[in-house]
Amino acid sequence: MEKSQANKERLVELKIDKLVAGGKGLARKEGKVYFIKYAAPNEIVQAVITKEKKDFAEGRVEKVIIPSSARVEPQCPHYGVCGGCQLQHLEYQAQLSQKVEIFKEQLQRLGKIKELPPVEVVPSPQTYGYRIRAQFHVENGKLGFVEDETLRELKKDFQIVDIETCPILHPKINELIPYLKKVSEDYPQIREIHVTYSPNMQEALIKLVGEKLDKNQLWNIKNNYLPPYVVGVGSYKRVEKELIRMEFVGRDYTFIEAKGFRYRVSAESFVQNNYLLWDKFIELVLPQEKRGYCLDLFCGIGFFTIPFATKAFFVEGSDLNPFAIADAEYNARLNRRPNVSFVRMKPSQHLKKHLDKELDTVILDPPRAGLDKKDIKVLLDIKPDRIVYISCNPSTLARDLSQLLKSGDYVYKKAVIIDLFPQTAHIESVNYLEKVQTEEGI
Ligand SMILES: C[S@@+](CC[C@H](N)C(=O)[O-])C[C@H]1O[C@@H](n2cnc3c(N)ncnc32)[C@H](O)[C@@H]1O
Repeated sequence: MEKSQANKERLVELKIDKLVAGGKGLARKEGKVYFIKYAAPNEIVQAVITKEKKDFAEGRVEKVIIPSSARVEPQCPHYGVCGGCQLQHLEYQAQLSQKVEIFKEQLQRLGKIKELPPVEVVPSPQTYGYRIRAQFHVENGKLGFVEDETLRELKKDFQIVDIETCPILHPKINELIPYLKKVSEDYPQIREIHVTYSPNMQEALIKLVGEKLDKNQLWNIKNNYLPPYVVGVGSYKRVEKELIRMEFVGRDYTFIEAKGFRYRVSAESFVQNNYLLWDKFIELVLPQEKRGYCLDLFCGIGFFTIPFATKAFFVEGSDLNPFAIADAEYNARLNRRPNVSFVRMKPSQHLKKHLDKELDTVILDPPRAGLDKKDIKVLLDIKPDRIVYISCNPSTLARDLSQLLKSGDYVYKKAVIIDLFPQTAHIESVNYLEKVQTEEGI
């Protein structure tokens, strides 16, 4: 950065009250609210301001003046420059307690939920090396991750952080980085590289996103650039948020195992990222007692649907991704589960098929955007006995739960934060709602 530009940066000394959404430290000074990245609760920091508005400002820690006792040395050499992690400077227990506070605050402030249920926490058995999926960006042959937003704001430009290692990734994905760098250098058509690693099969699938690569190029990459544990390589183009397959060589699926179930996962299907919590995650969703007719909306590969069916009369799963539905149908046969079926459908359409039925449990596991208004409306028309809402975004969870609870038809029994994403500010939760018993229902 130019020196004259650096001189214009505003520095401010702040006392951090607590962490809020995104893992940012909240401070107040002279009528202004500050959101400061890489700060810890109760510490005094000097922050550099990267965005200034009338009532609030954003920035990052420049210097810690009085550190928090929870501050630790981050493991990653790219921490603070790479935008992927937000909490590596906090010891793990403090990360968990801050996540609980952030979660509760979002439900109360955004969802206006006055009476919160008990909130339990399931920690990750390992806080590094847990991720089995990675999305690398490639720019001018350089492979890495997107730069931290506050640095981008300061420099007013965008850069890829040229990474050597990412300690939250599974070691076998880290091992691929030098190979992927060479592929990126030699194939300028590539803009992103997505990796999925199966720790059970000890194999990886790779998606090369950008301009089309033909079969010969893909075979060349697979056979001459990558180690043998990469079993399939595909060429994809990005159309907005979607990746469209253009070519694929090798095997386009792998298998994972969780809680004694085996699942096929196609290159296009979603798979839960923290493999160390797969068993526990299924246990959290699995009911204690026998259940009746149930739906699993946003079912993906049937990760929850199939185990849930061992305790239910019947479970119907639905998802919009055709690859996931094909995997789920295959997985039902693979695990010899006759009492499940899968359909490619939007949640509201799927729910409408059951307007006249008594539904026991509806499992919801939407992407970050949460539910559609239509989904909530039909859900409340049907009023299943129980709703298990799995969320990766407390702000959309708060919005949706507020609608469901406002109806007066449900009680919010319990929430469990399952820490799928240590070192980051992401909060995954399982939320249990039960229908209020009416006089005649008792
Ligand atoms: C967070 S994943 C959960 C998948 C599954 N429950 C699991 O644990 O593996 C969300 C799923 O929702 C699906 N999805 C995204 N938008 C959707 C929509 N509008 N309607 C239905 N499914 C959608 C995705 O294809 C993905 O499989």
